[in-house]
Amino acid sequence: MNSHRKKPWITPLAVAGWLCAAASSALAQDSLRARNLAATCANCHGTNGQARDGMMPLAGVNADWIANTLGQYKRGEKTATLMQQIAKGYTDAQIRLIADHLAAQVATK
Ligand code: HEC
Repeated sequence: MNSHRKKPWITPLAVAGWLCAAASSALAQDSLRARNLAATCANCHGTNGQARDGMMPLAGVNADWIANTLGQYKRGEKTATLMQQIAKGYTDAQIRLIADHLAAQVATK
């Protein structure tokens, strides 16, 4: 009696393959989204976090520190002239993407 068997084309391997494909395209989309989001910081903190003219660079800075600091700005726990306004414009998930993207950049100075 074989009636309980799954259809042969829905093998675990096929499912795993589909999951991998879905995950890697989601990853590619995330990294694009992260770059675009981080570009909104570039006016002040430099392209990809490579700051100029004495502004604090964010390239290669610890991702958790960036994410935590933005969270503190967002919740008003850290005083700032303008970062509290900026931080409120992002969801925690977006902040995570931005922080990971900036941390992954190699600081040039
Ligand atoms: C309009 C200019 C401007 C933009 C855009 C901007 N920042 Fe800032 N950022 C500042 C200033 C100015 C400070 C210093 C704190 C303050 O006075 O607001 C700061 C501080 C910070 C700090 C703390 C740095 C430290 O050494 O204490 C982090 C982290 C940070 N910004 C991350 C970001 C991220 C991530 C973005 C993009 C989502 C961003 N900033 C966008 C101007 C900006």
